[in-house]
Amino acid sequence: MSQTDIELPDALEIPARGWLRGLFDRGALDPAAQMDTAVAAIRRSRRPEYVAVFGGKGGAGKTTTSTGLGSTLAGVMRDRVAVVDSNPDKGTLCLKFPTGQSALPLHQLAGRTEQLRSYSDLRPYLLSNELGLDALTSSRHRDPAADGAVYAEILDFLAADYRVVVTDCGTSATSDAAREVLARATQLVVVTPAQIDGFYALLETLDELVDMRHRDLIGDAVAVINGIHESTSVDVDKIHADLKRRVRAVRRIPHDPHLAAGAAFDFAELQPATKVAYAELAATVTARFR
Ligand SMILES: Nc1ncnc2c1ncn2[C@@H]1O[C@H](COP(=O)(O)OP(=O)(O)O)[C@@H](O)[C@H]1O
Ligand SMILES: [Mg+2]
Repeated sequence: MSQTDIELPDALEIPARGWLRGLFDRGALDPAAQMDTAVAAIRRSRRPEYVAVFGGKGGAGKTTTSTGLGSTLAGVMRDRVAVVDSNPDKGTLCLKFPTGQSALPLHQLAGRTEQLRSYSDLRPYLLSNELGLDALTSSRHRDPAADGAVYAEILDFLAADYRVVVTDCGTSATSDAAREVLARATQLVVVTPAQIDGFYALLETLDELVDMRHRDLIGDAVAVINGIHESTSVDVDKIHADLKRRVRAVRRIPHDPHLAAGAAFDFAELQPATKVAYAELAATVTARFR
């Protein structure tokens, strides 16, 4: 897709550093130029895409990655993009959206999607952010035993209105919700924190996916190493290389003070390097859009 004919939301902009930009010509590009390149590489989808986000450990950054990826896609593609809380544990997706909104929990949609006639009927169930990402979030009082059928219905329903549906899954690929997500997934994103224990936990989730015959999805997956501190003592290059043997691509998201606060996700508040990282992640995922 050419970016020259669409106006990008301000949040996705990184100001060029004026005359300084010339100094970056050799070697490293400045963030504004990197952002331009990454955004220009984000492709639109012609068919609905289901991007399943899994991790190995709570706190790995699955929900943050789902929101960051979904926000970037919504802002650049200008198509409807949704993120769905698909974690059997208490979901925190709603906390990543601007406060002051309320939405009915997605489980109340169960058995009702046939009565919804238009997108506006869906609005009471949606949270949205400034980049246009919509979210379906779950309530704390859900019944995980009933999850399978609920997700099957909702995910199928969303395909009519949304170009991309990002599912924020948990750590297990075997839950009922995860099985329904995986049955539809066209893309897989797996998240590890820049920590050894979280990385091993992710390898266990990948083994589970192999046992469930999702080897193709893994081979085509994008792995995210999330929250990398400049001063980390972890050998991130080794984690990167290990993951690269298993998946299609590996992307790194820096530790970002705005994200560390754990409040609503606001793309405009991210550090330039984090913005670039999300745009590059989005471009990498969309490279396989059909
Ligand atoms: N790149 C990052 N830099 C700093 N903090 C982060 C980053 N990614 C996530 N966090 C923070 O870490 C915590 C756990 O992230 P979250 O996405 O909720 O993990 P998960 O969904 O895997 O349990 C949250 O408070 C979140 O804001
Ligand atoms: Mg989460």
